[in-house]
Amino acid sequence: MASTEPLLADPLKATMAEMARTTKEAKAALSVTDPATFDAILKAYAGEGRAGMALFPGGSAKGQDLRTRFSKFAATADAARQPSTTPARFRAAFGSLVSECRSCHSAYK
Ligand code: HEC
Repeated sequence: MASTEPLLADPLKATMAEMARTTKEAKAALSVTDPATFDAILKAYAGEGRAGMALFPGGSAKGQDLRTRFSKFAATADAARQPSTTPARFRAAFGSLVSECRSCHSAYK
């Protein structure tokens, strides 16, 4: 979610720090039932995915793959956003998103 902390010098690390912060909030949200909380978290993830995409505008194979992965991440978060996201839907979306974190990290981190 939006942070008031200064951006880290490395923009990828800064985006990752945002994703880690949102993940902490998402874990806390697993014990609530508030659709507005779910939506705020999914919206933050989608924005972070798009921020990741913007970091890899180039045409190298690695850059294209990272952009595709971040794009998929943003799409997963966007697709789960509903006027009234249920806890089950949020939990399922969170599971998919975390597996996308892991998949990208096992390839590139
Ligand atoms: C499309 C690829 C991709 C996705 C998706 C992704 N990451 Fe990362 N992440 C990376 C890469 C690449 C690094 C290594 C960055 C570096 O060391 O410069 C990284 C590093 C990190 C770090 C360490 C940052 C640091 O300062 O060293 C954290 C924390 C992190 N990711 C959290 C997450 C979380 C949480 C998610 C999912 C919600 C996620 N990432 C999703 C690619 C991804």
